[in-house]
Amino acid sequence: MSQLFEDAFGTKPDVTQFAPGRVNLIGEYTDLVGGHVLPMPLAKGITVEAGRSEKETRAYSHLQGETVTLDLGGAAQSRWTDYVVGSLVMLQSAGIALPAMNLSISSTLPAGAGVSSSAALEIAVMRAALALAGISMTEREIALLAQRAENEFCGVQCGIMDQMAIAEGTAGNALSLNCTTLAARNIALPSDWCFAVIHCGQDRQLVGGAYNDRRAAVEAAATALGKDLKDCTLAMVGTLGDPVVRRRARHIVSEQARVGQAVEAFKDNAISRFGRLMNESHASLADDFEVSTPALDTLVNTARQAGAHGARLTGAGFGGCIVALLDASWAEAWWRQVALKQPDAWCVQL
Ligand code: GLA
Repeated sequence: MSQLFEDAFGTKPDVTQFAPGRVNLIGEYTDLVGGHVLPMPLAKGITVEAGRSEKETRAYSHLQGETVTLDLGGAAQSRWTDYVVGSLVMLQSAGIALPAMNLSISSTLPAGAGVSSSAALEIAVMRAALALAGISMTEREIALLAQRAENEFCGVQCGIMDQMAIAEGTAGNALSLNCTTLAARNIALPSDWCFAVIHCGQDRQLVGGAYNDRRAAVEAAATALGKDLKDCTLAMVGTLGDPVVRRRARHIVSEQARVGQAVEAFKDNAISRFGRLMNESHASLADDFEVSTPALDTLVNTARQAGAHGARLTGAGFGGCIVALLDASWAEAWWRQVALKQPDAWCVQL
């Protein structure tokens, strides 16, 4: 790995940091109302190597094949460097004096696929910059600053799920997270369950605009009802006059209920029950929240026909990945069948 840094900058890195991607098992968009989510870290992620620089701060992306001099005083430019600059700017705004640095970024995570490559990049950059500056911060502080980088610098009004899943999640566990209090509990994945993450072959067409639009509808519903959506019932949501706002709110309220039931199913080792909830979640995301695509719907159906207990789109939607729940012993054979029927799909994690 450090060869990449050396090739880009001609010296050896001083520090190396990694941040994983995540797959959300259930609880999509509920973080926007401070609700309950159940994500799990992936093995794949982003590695950032950092070394002190004489004057400029520069970033090299292995994926993009370019080195860019970063302007920490400039505005976002709608490109990959925004996540890097935004993260460094947020550290500075938290009072951290950063040295000039060179950063080399490499990734095993697909970008724009609903598996949190942007949050992983932000957190890996922050961890590397902090390590280089010799300053420590709690994982939670890092997660909150990474969310601010996305909200305030990149202009995507995302919730806190991705950053918390990456910062406080642990391998082999799902993170049961309350997005209001940030109370987080790691729950072990039953050993005979497998969550497969499969890319539909179509990159996410997002997103800032569509994502922020969903958030606006959810906020309009809360304003009209005079209450946080996470505390509303389906009957209350049914009184909303605007049909689009009503459907968006119905997704949030029904999804919030499903997460609670899914955590129970997880603890009871009730695989079919968990799978059913995933299927209901996908239907709600497709019909009420309208963030699915034909490619995602087709892959979800194929996944179920090939024997998954449940399957749903994961992350923000609009392309990218699905997550399917399988008996671990059947996962390889299942994937062979899916791959035959969907040649565009590819496996991110089995
Ligand atoms: C993106 C956002 C998260 C969350 C999901 C949808 O990943 O970053 O905050 O809202 O979409 O569940």
